[in-house]
Amino acid sequence: MGQRGTPGLHADSGLLVCFDGFAARHCPEMTEKGQFRAIKGTRDILPADSALWNWFEQTARDVFETYGFRDIRLPVFEETVLFARSIGEETDVVAKEMYTFEDRGNVHVGYPQTVEEIVRSNEAVQAAWQAGRIPRTFDNELRVGLIQNACDRVSEEGAPALLRFIAELHALDLGDSITLRPEATAGSVRAYIEHGMHTQPGNVKLYYIGPMFRRERPQKGRYRQFYQVGAEVLGPSDAPAIDAEMLEMLLVFFDRVGLTKTTLYINSIGCHECRPKYVERLREELRKVKEQLGADSQRRIETNTLRVLDSKLPHEQAIIEKLPRISEHLCDACREHFAKLKEELKLRNIAYQENWRLVRGLDYYTRTTFEVTAAGLGSQNAVCGGGRYDGLVELLGGPAGIKGIGFAIGTDRAILSLQESGKLPALRGFEVFIAWMGAKAYPVAVAIARKLRARGFSVELPPEEMKFKKSLGLANKLGARYALIIGEDEAASGTYTLKRLVDAQQRKFSEGELLEHLASERGQGR
Ligand code: HAM
Repeated sequence: MGQRGTPGLHADSGLLVCFDGFAARHCPEMTEKGQFRAIKGTRDILPADSALWNWFEQTARDVFETYGFRDIRLPVFEETVLFARSIGEETDVVAKEMYTFEDRGNVHVGYPQTVEEIVRSNEAVQAAWQAGRIPRTFDNELRVGLIQNACDRVSEEGAPALLRFIAELHALDLGDSITLRPEATAGSVRAYIEHGMHTQPGNVKLYYIGPMFRRERPQKGRYRQFYQVGAEVLGPSDAPAIDAEMLEMLLVFFDRVGLTKTTLYINSIGCHECRPKYVERLREELRKVKEQLGADSQRRIETNTLRVLDSKLPHEQAIIEKLPRISEHLCDACREHFAKLKEELKLRNIAYQENWRLVRGLDYYTRTTFEVTAAGLGSQNAVCGGGRYDGLVELLGGPAGIKGIGFAIGTDRAILSLQESGKLPALRGFEVFIAWMGAKAYPVAVAIARKLRARGFSVELPPEEMKFKKSLGLANKLGARYALIIGEDEAASGTYTLKRLVDAQQRKFSEGELLEHLASERGQGR
């Protein structure tokens, strides 16, 4: 056995394990040298990229706010049942991909030993059960009964009943089931209901930016911790103009960040009236061709019929093309809604393609669904997905008649696509490197650094004295735009020498002139 906390090589399996003093655990993310690595499917966004991420997210804020959307900051974890109920038990996200754990809180059940202690513990358990403070699972119901039974028999039976009591007490599942959010629509709707936002006038427009978590097989553009920029509109109206304006905002944003090689796909998947009938029709047809389908599609015929349409398996494509299409089964209200949406898109000059197979992987959708794909991403090319979810507020216990629509952009993929296109914005880097030398120059350097920073310039002030040659070399390596040279002469005469590093142009300035000059160069984008 290795020392506590030291990694070692597991003799039998050859796998690296980490001895933590109690049990050997697999640490697959540790290198042979014992260094830690980010967990599979997660990654660090390093400063070289984070400027681009910040700009992307800030542009989203700027654009979304012009459409009246306001930021909502949601918790990263929620009750598991919130996701199960809204996204759907049978979806891949809920069935396979959620990071779920039990949050035991500060519950300590202890070890009662005397008859009095057992009676008191039993009273506490029964009262907690009645008050709903013990999760109402089938197993817990059984155990609460067995605890009562053991308590009733302890005076008669002694030790065996005592041991049963303790065993059942410790087997109670006292924790809440918590899940790291796989998406943020469920949380947004939960917050909308919890804070009574339906009482606000008009539609409520929210946006969010942050990490989401899904245990998917990592590959290019698919991560286990990924980031979304999303927006939701909730309120009493489901006018198609809301859908169209949301799509307009999305495309204005993509245009603003330079993500131009995109395609918008739209569809209507009907409502709670017409969709069940269509799904039944589809299921009937699929059962007829079941033998020709792959295992996933065969299973989905019964569990999540619409998702069969999502299949990418080459040999299923011809079969799917012949299946009945939802557009032929929409009720009048849904057909009208979809037709009106298309008119609204035309009015806004928004190009789109209809895709009858766009059903999306989450159960809450009704009517409008959409997706945007971008170039340069391979198989994971959806940079945004969204749609209407008119019944979700009510399903989660909120007021009836509240409609909803939203989208989420996959930031990781959008940024990848931008990087692949090579059309990156020139983001302001680091601007002034102060090359100081001499004891008299140092206080001048400290003072001017502070003044420049107060005016918003990014300034590097070397903490130790360096020869000018070395200073200027470092300024170049760091990619600074200017070196501000302050030697004993400059300190004595109250002047500064500013060197533009790109062309080595050099000029002397007084403090006032220097500040003015830098501000005007910046104003001209130089
Ligand atoms: P979604 O289609 O599951 O929809 O995700 C939206 C976008 O998030 C995808 O198009 C993709 O760009 C990105 N994404 C999803 N999973 C991953 C992953 N594992 N790695 C990297 N990027 C990923 C939703 O999440 C809905 N909540 C959207 C919505 C909002 N619908 C209504 N309102």
